[in-house]
Amino acid sequence: MIITVASFKGGVGKTTTAFHIAAYLNEQAKTLLIDGDPNRSVLGWAARGELPFKVVDERSAAMHARQYDHIVIDTEARPEYEDLKALADGCDLLILPTTPDALALDALKLTVDALKKLGTAKFKILLTVVPPRPEKDGEEAREALAEAGLPVFKAEIRRFSAYKKAALSGLPVHKIKASNAKEAWEDYKAVGKEIVDEQVQFATASKAGAIAHI
Ligand SMILES: Nc1ncnc2c1ncn2[C@@H]1O[C@H](COP(=O)(O)OP(=O)(O)OP(=O)(O)O)[C@@H](O)[C@H]1O
Ligand SMILES: [Mg+2]
Repeated sequence: MIITVASFKGGVGKTTTAFHIAAYLNEQAKTLLIDGDPNRSVLGWAARGELPFKVVDERSAAMHARQYDHIVIDTEARPEYEDLKALADGCDLLILPTTPDALALDALKLTVDALKKLGTAKFKILLTVVPPRPEKDGEEAREALAEAGLPVFKAEIRRFSAYKKAALSGLPVHKIKASNAKEAWEDYKAVGKEIVDEQVQFATASKAGAIAHI
């Protein structure tokens, strides 16, 4: 499975998402995380800690890719329209993280419009850095996305201070000591599970389709 994480807006949790999904998938099968951001933020992150999965930069990715079952690709913010086409063509699932605020949702709309123009349906939106209740940002953003008929992960990533600490330590959130680390990891686990379950359903449906065809 090849999963790419992208967005037009910066700072919406792309790197955090790519990193934790790679950590989740790597518990099930060999996973490679490709740093496709010229800032090399994942590589910097990886250099600080001891990671259970491998991280490489995009220039050497081809060399490593064949040895892995899953590949997760982190990308830079604001890819050009043409970049987006290449990103969508090159993966099984494009994850679009967004924070639940007006600016990020506006940027997301641009991304989704561009993807629709490209005729790709293999994207799914992930709400990130969702503030705790009684703030209603998460709920309202979810309603707006549902109204627009867009595919959104059921799971969402809540706002926790543990992520910043994890980034500084160069580790995924479940490998650090922080009061909310466990809850933070539960959120990404739920996203990972949703991805895996959907892939299984998709594979089963394709197989059934192929058999019906015979
Ligand atoms: N769920 C969260 N709760 C709290 N802080 C978070 C959460 N997710 C990410 N952060 C923090 O927000 C900041 C931006 O996150 P991240 O680097 O993952 O975003 P990005 O989309 O990759 O940014 P860029 O566009 O610059 O590459 C980081 O400091 C990160 O630790
Ligand atoms: Mg990033």
